[in-house]
Amino acid sequence: MSNQSHKLTIALSKGRILKDSLPLLAAAGIELLESPDDSRKLIFDTSHPEVRILVIRASDVPTFVSYGAADMGVAGKDVLLENDVSNLYELVDLQIARCRLMLASLPDADLEKPRLKIATKYTSTTREWFAKQGRQVEAVKLYGSMELAPVVGLADAIVDVVESGNTLKENGLVTRDHIMDISSRLVVNRASMKMKAGLIQPIIDQVASAVRDKAA
Ligand code: ATP
Ligand code: PRP
Repeated sequence: MSNQSHKLTIALSKGRILKDSLPLLAAAGIELLESPDDSRKLIFDTSHPEVRILVIRASDVPTFVSYGAADMGVAGKDVLLENDVSNLYELVDLQIARCRLMLASLPDADLEKPRLKIATKYTSTTREWFAKQGRQVEAVKLYGSMELAPVVGLADAIVDVVESGNTLKENGLVTRDHIMDISSRLVVNRASMKMKAGLIQPIIDQVASAVRDKAA
């Protein structure tokens, strides 16, 4: 059972981040005692007596860590760019959940036209990227299924993450520009880093070393 004796809380999201983070955390002696896939629980004890893991939405990880509800977390760079990260340290590029943030559209779409409409989950990053090119665009906020927007006339183009390219292809879209490479990062609450350095620093070091070993 979870209880107040835990000294360190780590926030992860279900799916690819959880799956790819667990081997890295195992290198720091942190293993889940049960699988979140078989459970509706949101909070899990681990093999490390002082560490528990929260399993939450990917886009909520920066919020939990910023407010100190979790001391550490793993979040995609795409998500970090859309959030206020002033209370976080972004410490290790875990090289997991790798993908590319891309501009995509129907093949014949005119992207030079004025008042371009872009459907995306990443409205700030999108506005900023176009602004750097001296262009102001209308960013239409969606929470998923972005690929549908150009097909049904909701937007001229989308900004979304792409890995294999299959989702774009199956919806008749093509990539038009590569905005940036994305991977997931280990983030730590700034106050926790100070107050719990003795517990946190060895975990950071062991996770970073596991990332290096994996790349070698
Ligand atoms: P939420 O549940 O909050 O809406 P989500 O559904 O985007 O988030 P995931 O699909 O688990 O959550 O994605 C987590 C992170 O993995 C993203 O923030 C991104 O960095 C990366 N990612 C997203 N899609 C892919 C993909 N197809 N391949 C590789 N990495 C991806
Ligand atoms: C992501 C993204 C794309 C797809 C790209 O969706 O929003 O739809 O992956 O991957 P591909 O290039 O390999 O096809 P995800 O699978 O995370 O689904 P969700 O965000 O709707 O949960």
